Amino acid sequence: ASHTRLPDKDCSSITPPYPLLLENWRRVRELLNHRPLTLAEKILYSHVHDPVATFSKNANDQGGYLQLMPERVAMQDASAQMALLQFMSAGLPSCAVPTSIHCDHLIQAVEGAESDLKNSIVSNKEVFDFLESSARKYGIEFWRPGSGIIHQIVLENYAAPGMLMLGTDSHTPNAGGLGMLAIGVGGADAVDAMTGTPWELKKPLIVGVRLTGELSGWTTAKDLILHIAGNLTVRGGTGRILEYFGPGVFNQSCTSLATIANMGAEVGATTSTFPYTPSMRAYLEATGRTAVARAADNAAGHGFLNADEGAEYDEMIEINLSELEPMINGPFTPDLATPLSKFSAFVAEQGWKDEISAGLIGSCTNSSYEDMTSVADLTKQAKAAGLHVKIPFLCTPGSEQIRATMERDNVTAALEDVGATVLANACGPCIGQWKRKEEARNENAILTSFNRNFKSRNDGNRNTMNFLASPTVVTAMSFSGKLSFNPITDSITTPSGEPFRFSPPNGQDLPEKGFTLGNIAYYPLPSPVPNPDAEILISPTSSRLEILEPFQPHFNTADPNGLELQSVKVLVRVRGKCTTDHISAAGPWLKYKGHLSNISQNLLITATNDEGGDINVAFDHEHTSDETPSDTIPNVAKRFKARRQPWALVVDENYGEGSAREHAALQPRFYGCALIIGRSFARIHETNLKKQGILPLWFTSNADYDRIGSGDSITTIGLRDLFNGGNNKTILLDVSKLNGERFQLPVTHTLSSEQLNWLRAGSALNHIRSQM
Ligand code: F3S
Repeated sequence: ASHTRLPDKDCSSITPPYPLLLENWRRVRELLNHRPLTLAEKILYSHVHDPVATFSKNANDQGGYLQLMPERVAMQDASAQMALLQFMSAGLPSCAVPTSIHCDHLIQAVEGAESDLKNSIVSNKEVFDFLESSARKYGIEFWRPGSGIIHQIVLENYAAPGMLMLGTDSHTPNAGGLGMLAIGVGGADAVDAMTGTPWELKKPLIVGVRLTGELSGWTTAKDLILHIAGNLTVRGGTGRILEYFGPGVFNQSCTSLATIANMGAEVGATTSTFPYTPSMRAYLEATGRTAVARAADNAAGHGFLNADEGAEYDEMIEINLSELEPMINGPFTPDLATPLSKFSAFVAEQGWKDEISAGLIGSCTNSSYEDMTSVADLTKQAKAAGLHVKIPFLCTPGSEQIRATMERDNVTAALEDVGATVLANACGPCIGQWKRKEEARNENAILTSFNRNFKSRNDGNRNTMNFLASPTVVTAMSFSGKLSFNPITDSITTPSGEPFRFSPPNGQDLPEKGFTLGNIAYYPLPSPVPNPDAEILISPTSSRLEILEPFQPHFNTADPNGLELQSVKVLVRVRGKCTTDHISAAGPWLKYKGHLSNISQNLLITATNDEGGDINVAFDHEHTSDETPSDTIPNVAKRFKARRQPWALVVDENYGEGSAREHAALQPRFYGCALIIGRSFARIHETNLKKQGILPLWFTSNADYDRIGSGDSITTIGLRDLFNGGNNKTILLDVSKLNGERFQLPVTHTLSSEQLNWLRAGSALNHIRSQM
């Protein structure tokens, strides 16, 4: 490992296009009559695809949706698979915006960095080979296994004030610590940005969070966001951007701000951001991006990187940092917040065993130099008193840069001296890849400085209670091994029988000697040139990866009747709530994310058939003598596909709510679904259906839901007019029931002219390919 100080980088591909953004912002300001804007509005609006169409008075109602042009995409190894498979099917030679892939989620945590990394590379070889070969072909920066966790690497290398970025991971907002908008999305949305298609976002509400006072003693940025999670709850940020401002922002390090932004995801926020601060400038310089800092200084000079005086927020929160104390949140939900001073009483009240079984620090949330040096300060104090951690104490560095800098500055030694194990630079124990040596299947408590604590999140054991706290509180408590221990007020008895109490931790924001790169083999070439001749490596016998064949269009433009859906058979009428998780279940299926035929076997397996009330049952009215009259939903869908029979679903309210999982649209399409008629649709899923070439239609009368059932045959009347440029909002369904009854009923659509192109071509990606 080399320990040279980080040199200044060539920043040409990572500096936001400030002149363009400033010009867009100027135009929007005029269109909005110079009303004062929040910072989040400035960043969003300067990235709007067509400001005049969006903001001019005469523009059509946009329905509160913004068409945005992000500047960068980052993907982690699990979610990148389907995103890349889709991108491949668009047939483009390279990505429209700089894109990076990060191998972090598939690395396990068993023994320690070296062997864990080796074993994970062997067991995931086909996935890593696929990702690396795709990166080579399309000019994507590939961060190999061991290089670090996506969000830490993005903060160290790509994030910049005023930028708009998409990432295929829920903690993408971490990059907001550098004063930008970074939004976590599904693979289909990432593919929008990668293909240069405007990406749609419902205009979020902007919540102003005004910070006054100062963090001190044991209280850290982590405690601020744990406190906010307790107040807002896991849903309080939904549809909202949290925009922090006030003097309390300016006395925090950039990496602390990133911790706060990271865990905005725990309250469901779209993202979080901060005005440009001197600490951001210092962090950019320390990470070799002086040119980005100079460009940001200039943009800030124009007023672009903070809210305007008098800007109005949709909601406001005020927090005095001086009044906060350390928090411990959990178990099982990040919004169950208890102040450290009350935690011991809370544990006693609940009747929990007063024991901690492991302490874990690091992860994408808390592995900054400041976090690690604060922790090392505590371990040095403990060592001087003759103490050793009482429980397994594991540290996950966020990146090779952090790991190597910790090693050079004897931070790692200070941790290992008291019994810590340093794991690979990867997600490991944060994402269920933690294979614990000790048999801990029973109820047990762990303390982590991570961000999520749902059941089974860390070690796969539903009985492991995960409590979230700052890295320093986790560290100090690991020396007592007790949940009731309060490091601020309580002492530990040393081997010589003396009481020892920790002094408040002292960390350093940035390393005096600068960051060091560490092992340069982990670093990709900046802005790699696409290689059209590179072969993408997918084994034809793989069970985890499969090339995505372009979908055949349901329409035939050469035939006038081919512009209507003809004799589409209803597969099942789904009753009640049907989220993307009902449509495409997660859990063990996740390993097939990159293999559409395999993962499609989970299609709607937890959905209820309204005709009979059974879960995962569908009727096959045209079954052959070899087939059963009913079977599971995926099995009957498979039969329809084999018969080349296009089919439809009838669904209830808000179909497809939940996470933006593109598999929930890809899977029905894979089996030949052409049409979904619903009482209502969740917006993102409705768009995803259209992207995959499935037509969503809305009942005009909710009562019509009961009139169509399995085996009924549907032909549309009115689509042809739409395809030919008509603007009819209503389409008729001509329904032939199994009993011979026939009737027509009206439905409505939400198709734009661009979306009609997607349907005509069979999918949005087919359309992009046809435009080349
Ligand atoms: Fe990885 Fe956990 Fe962060 S899974 S990206 S370290 S939330």
